[in-house]
Amino acid sequence: MPIAAKRPPALPILDRQHLRLVVTGTAPRLVRALTDQALHLWRAPRAVRPDVRLVATELVTNVLQHTPRSEGRLDVFDVALDLLASSAVRVLVFDMSSDMPICRTPAPGAEGSRGLLVVRGLARDWGAFPLPSGGKAVWADVPLAVEAPRDGTDPRMVARVLGAVRDL
Ligand SMILES: Nc1ncnc2c1ncn2[C@@H]1O[C@H](COP(=O)(O)OP(=O)(O)O)[C@@H](O)[C@H]1O
Ligand SMILES: [Mg+2]
Repeated sequence: MPIAAKRPPALPILDRQHLRLVVTGTAPRLVRALTDQALHLWRAPRAVRPDVRLVATELVTNVLQHTPRSEGRLDVFDVALDLLASSAVRVLVFDMSSDMPICRTPAPGAEGSRGLLVVRGLARDWGAFPLPSGGKAVWADVPLAVEAPRDGTDPRMVARVLGAVRDL
């Protein structure tokens, strides 16, 4: 089932870094560079930087994998990173598809369908909402302070492993 539309809470934003990307294979690398620069600029604790990197990578990879491309021209999409006064980074990814993400429970051993589970595990809150232009935005608020795991499992450990694999 696609998730229900949910707008991010209207929290004070201290700074925004953004990038317009072409829907192509280099986008995840470029968004990681943007993320690293923003986290450096904001002096974010090193321990949480991989979490923001991974959330941004998963959301951007989903644009490449799950949104249709136009014939004969380059499709572009926008990514924004907002520094929230509540000590979190909001990752926003805007795409041109009106289809909402689907949060699946992957079969044991399945290779895919874990990206949004990781996002859900690392983010304080997340969601997606339609844009007046016809597309949607998917967003996730990742805490900048190390927070205790909410349910016995440690999604940060999963994130470390996935992040390391992606960087290979
Ligand atoms: N930006 C998006 N636009 C449309 N559908 C999406 C988007 N992101 C995710 N989805 C849907 O949600 C599903 C789950 O995404 P995810 O958990 O990242 O797993 P995976 O990408 O491995 O399929 C996808 O298979 C796709 O159907
Ligand atoms: Mg995915």
